[in-house]
Amino acid sequence: MEVFANAKINLSLDVLGVREDGYHEVRMLMQSIGLADRITLDPIPSGIMLHTNRSYLPCDARNLAYRAAELFLKETNTSSGVKMNIIKKIPVSAGLAGGSTDAAAVLVGLNQLFGTKLSRRRLCELGGTLGSDIPFCILGGTALATGRGEQIHRLPPLPKVYLVLVKPPISISTPKIYTALDQQEIACHPDTDALIEKIKARDVSGLAQEMVNVLEPVCETFEPRISELREKLLSCGAIGARMSGSGPTVFGIFETYEQAARAADAFRGRGDEVIVTSTRR
Ligand code: C5P
Repeated sequence: MEVFANAKINLSLDVLGVREDGYHEVRMLMQSIGLADRITLDPIPSGIMLHTNRSYLPCDARNLAYRAAELFLKETNTSSGVKMNIIKKIPVSAGLAGGSTDAAAVLVGLNQLFGTKLSRRRLCELGGTLGSDIPFCILGGTALATGRGEQIHRLPPLPKVYLVLVKPPISISTPKIYTALDQQEIACHPDTDALIEKIKARDVSGLAQEMVNVLEPVCETFEPRISELREKLLSCGAIGARMSGSGPTVFGIFETYEQAARAADAFRGRGDEVIVTSTRR
C-alpha cells in the first residue's frame, strides 16, 4: 500500500502562555500543502522495519513514524508487523511537520491496511500522544489548532494559491525555539479571529498581509536571514510571506504558478532548499 504524507504551513502562530505540563498554549492557523513524502506499507509476519531515502534519519524508535506503527499495532492488538519505506521530499527539521505527517500517514495507512476501522477521532487521540502536530496532519485542510496544537477546529478551504518555500541550511530544535521565546516579550500577536474571518470570506490577500508567527523573531536571533528571505519573497511578488512553525522555512504566497516559479528561480543556487508547491484542501 502507498500513502502520501502532506506537509503543512502555519498561516499564523500565536503563543498564549506556558501550561502546567510545560507545553505552550497555542492558537495556530494550519494549512496543508501539496508537498508530500511517499510511504509504502507492507505487512510482514512480525516486527517493524523502516527504511528511508535519507541516510541521516534514524530507522528505529527515534523516528516518529516507527513509534506511530508501534503504537498502532499495540492499540489494535495486531499480531503481524509492517515494513515501511519513506521517500522523503519534505525538508527535515524545517517547520513543515515532516516527521509528524509521516507518523499521521502511518496511522491512517495501517488502519486501512489491517482493516481495523479505528475512527478518525481515535487516530487523532493516538497521534496526539506522539506529537502535537499529528492530529492536524491526520485531518488536513485548513484549520485552527489550539491547546498544545492537538485540538483541531476545521475551517472552510482557502482558494488554491501557490507557495514558494525557502529552507535555509540550518536546523534549530523546536524546544530550543520555545525556550528562547520564554526569555522575551512577544511584541506582536496575530489577530487570529480576524484572520479566521478572512479565511471564511475567501480573502487570501487580506490573510496573506496580516499573517504573524510569534516564533519568527525568536528564530531570527539564530538565523538572521529569515527577515531577508521574507522581504525578498515580497519583492519577488509574494502577496504575503512568513516563517512556518518553529522555522526556519520561510514561505511566500503567490496567486499564480507562473509567479511562484519565477520567484523561486531568484532563490536558487544559494544553498537553500527551494520548493514550489500549492495549498491543498
Ligand atoms: O508535541 P511535540 O513533540 O511535537 O513538541 C516538541 C517540543 O516542542 C515539546 O517537547 C516542547 O518542548 C515544544 N512544544 C511546546 N509547546 C507546544 C508544542 C511543542 O513547548 N504547544
